[in-house]
Amino acid sequence: MRSFLPTFLFLLIGILSALYLGFGFPYFTPYAADPEQAGLKGQILIRFSHVVAENTPKGRAARLFADLVYERSGGRIKVEVFPNGSLYTDAVEIDELKKGHVEMIAPASANLSGPFPEWGILDLPYLFPNYEALDQALSGPLGEKLLKTMEKENMVGLAFWHNGLKQVTNNVRPLILPEDFKGLHFRIMPSPVIASHFSLFGVKTTSAPFNQVYLLLKSGQLDGEENTISNIYTKRFYTVQKYMTLSNHGYLGYPVFINRSFWERLSKGDQEIIREAMAEATSFQHRLAEQMNQEQLEEMKRSAIAIHVQTPEERDIWAKRLEPLYDEVKRSLGKEWAAEIEKLRGK
Ligand code: LMR
Repeated sequence: MRSFLPTFLFLLIGILSALYLGFGFPYFTPYAADPEQAGLKGQILIRFSHVVAENTPKGRAARLFADLVYERSGGRIKVEVFPNGSLYTDAVEIDELKKGHVEMIAPASANLSGPFPEWGILDLPYLFPNYEALDQALSGPLGEKLLKTMEKENMVGLAFWHNGLKQVTNNVRPLILPEDFKGLHFRIMPSPVIASHFSLFGVKTTSAPFNQVYLLLKSGQLDGEENTISNIYTKRFYTVQKYMTLSNHGYLGYPVFINRSFWERLSKGDQEIIREAMAEATSFQHRLAEQMNQEQLEEMKRSAIAIHVQTPEERDIWAKRLEPLYDEVKRSLGKEWAAEIEKLRGK
């Protein structure tokens, strides 16, 4: 027994040393710090939800914004982008932002105009003659004033992203004059102003979420819709529609919002990083929107859809038919907003 003890002690020390040196740390030390985990602990996560495809002006700008924020915060702020309505559809995203279930969204302004009627101004047909005019108006006092209206809703507006001007498509006949719309069934965004516009043309409207539109058109449940070139192209509406009129009749753009409670918890420095990245993503977005709408129109010209370019005379006929809409909106919004509308129309 006495001769066994030194051998036993020798073996015990050997095994303990092997465990410590060879396989050892986890057994003898508290769990070592994992640099990835340490990073995640202090990381700020911003979920950014939108409903369009990734390869669109909004989708690509959201991606760029995410990359810039990540890079400039040294990986401390991570923006996770959810495209195609994969997190929230357009029907619910505004409420989800207000509740803080998502930190950022970029909804079409038309989706705000039901609950917040001032936003309906942007849905007035032929309000902006061209891209420059709309950019000037929205990057100036009108844009600021509209964004401010949402602060009481727990939303802070960071920018205006544009998609561009809308066109009409349908499966029944070419849409040249207002009469041609009579009896058609259109999908529209949930804006009372857009609904009144089409009702003046004798159209029945349904406001389905964006990611259902393709199937509704394809199955024939709806005859047509209005949208920008990049949405008609990337969602392949043009493959299930026979006719398109390039009417440029209405604006489609996106105020970019962040949840206000979340925003106010961020340090001034982090707010600055976000604002700067947003400014850069916004100028990229504006250039891209114009470019994509042009390029994708060329692509569609090579497809089966028949394209009619609205003439200035036809435009005047549409505009005349739509005139009562301006009076209706001015009356319902009151003097202050009526003055904004008049300013935009140069009247
Ligand atoms: C639509 O619903 O047609 C658009 O608002 C989708 C979008 O976000 O561009």
